[in-house]
Amino acid sequence: MSLKDRHTDQAFIKEKFSKISRWYDFLNSLFSLGLDHYWRWQAVRWLEGSKKVLDLCAGTLPLSKALKRWTSFKGKIIALDFALPMLIYGKTKWQDKDVLAVAGNALCLPLKDNSVDAIMVAFGVRNFADRLKGLKEMKRVLKPGGKAVILEFSHPPLPPFRALYFAYLNYLLPKIGGLVSQDKEAYQHLTASIQAFYSPKEWMQLMRQAGFSQIKHRYLTGGIVSIYVGKV
Ligand SMILES: C[S@@+](CC[C@H](N)C(=O)[O-])C[C@H]1O[C@@H](n2cnc3c(N)ncnc32)[C@H](O)[C@@H]1O
Repeated sequence: MSLKDRHTDQAFIKEKFSKISRWYDFLNSLFSLGLDHYWRWQAVRWLEGSKKVLDLCAGTLPLSKALKRWTSFKGKIIALDFALPMLIYGKTKWQDKDVLAVAGNALCLPLKDNSVDAIMVAFGVRNFADRLKGLKEMKRVLKPGGKAVILEFSHPPLPPFRALYFAYLNYLLPKIGGLVSQDKEAYQHLTASIQAFYSPKEWMQLMRQAGFSQIKHRYLTGGIVSIYVGKV
């Protein structure tokens, strides 16, 4: 299987994230020049009033942390990821009595139908082997009226900026990521998966197909990242 085909291979993704877990937060902030904090803040603002939130593909828990620290949120969070080392590393750095970390697969959630008020996912849906199935699982566990807030990479719509960004993605990012984490392949995967991902128009269509409505989309930072909000 070529690297290009592996960006949705579950075993490969699990292995890669497990391997880079201790470098993940540092490299994330380095590569985004700290903008990742701003992107997560933009996402968690949508969830302040929710009572029970699922942090899907929670990784080292940065989104749960952002929701607890930067909003008036007072509810409970289930933080789910299939790469246990990511959750464990996150837990060693930050613990909160209202956050329950759970090992599980987003494509087969260990949760009952209609059981959470909201779902937040940052940089996770791109990795799903079956994106429609993942979205349908999200819809299944959301209570009626519940919302999903999805943060994901996208392609800047302005051609010169897009060309510059893709040059950065293809040449600089795998080199530095590989040097620091000692796993160049993981960062080549990141680059390949970003470039292969849906356009906002296609992604919103898939959300609609999965049963979401009132879908909103906003580009952040010139379109490097997109935020999607949908209701059930
Ligand atoms: C790029 S990280 C994002 C982590 C965190 N949400 C953040 O804001 O930085 C993607 C995470 O998604 C997890 N992941 C990918 N596919 C998954 C799946 N099908 N089920 C559960 N977790 C998954 C990976 O293990 C990884 O920890």
